[in-house]
Amino acid sequence: MAEPEAAAAGRPGELSILFVGDIVGGIGRRTLLDCLPVLRERYAPEFVVVNGENAAGGLGITPKIADQLIAAGVDAITLGNHTYHRREIYPYLDAQPRIVRPFNFLRSQPGRGTCVVEHDGVRLGVVNLSGNLYLRAGRSAFTEIEVALKELEGVDHVLVDMHAEATSEKVAMGWHLDGRVTAVVGTHTHVPTADARVLPGGTAYITDAGMTGPRGGVIGVKREQAIESLLTQMPTRFETSEEDPWLMGVLIRCSQPLRADSIEQVLMPRPPASAEAR
Ligand SMILES: [Fe+2]
Ligand SMILES: [Fe+2]
Repeated sequence: MAEPEAAAAGRPGELSILFVGDIVGGIGRRTLLDCLPVLRERYAPEFVVVNGENAAGGLGITPKIADQLIAAGVDAITLGNHTYHRREIYPYLDAQPRIVRPFNFLRSQPGRGTCVVEHDGVRLGVVNLSGNLYLRAGRSAFTEIEVALKELEGVDHVLVDMHAEATSEKVAMGWHLDGRVTAVVGTHTHVPTADARVLPGGTAYITDAGMTGPRGGVIGVKREQAIESLLTQMPTRFETSEEDPWLMGVLIRCSQPLRADSIEQVLMPRPPASAEAR
């Protein structure tokens, strides 16, 4: 039987982490801002981590948007293949300690791949990785994760956002890190997978957390434009769909360092009242 939420939250040693999948455009940001108070009341997460690689008009992120997410109580922002779409983010990636780009990008590229955030003395390390299949990443996720984990030695929990196209790479990373980190969550495909579980060694895992954006489009894009592009095979203008926005992510509960007790999917439509108000 599920424990009462109030008792589960706040007990010494017990905490929860809300991880939110790729925020797509303004509609994704508004959906996050509208859903977050409801989710805070429901789960009282100690940490909120979001993937923000599509937060600016569907591609990349700007300092202003990152600041807005942090002001809303987001503890850390992860990114992915669209990290460098907006030039203005480059210096911000070096200066703002709460935002990470894939650790296994080249060392010469702006930004860092790990960060540590703290809540009531509990330290959560966050690592962003990029898959190497069909995505551009200068170094191997599988070798570089060891360097990243060394950087995070001594933290209480570690969450890894494995931003990858191929399910095989994400599943393999889950097994590779099982028993060594609190959670491995996949992002990038924008479609949530039905395989959330705690692996035998105690690491929470999901192949893809999904996106926070319009379910009425094609992974974020207006569906007419996506279909037109596939039909004609010609260059097509892509705009972010506004239809049927949902927040998608996972809630991870923990009671021991570097281990998870449970992982559950969070799939929530944008609350209708606030959608009308905007
Ligand atoms: Fe994405
Ligand atoms: Fe991506």
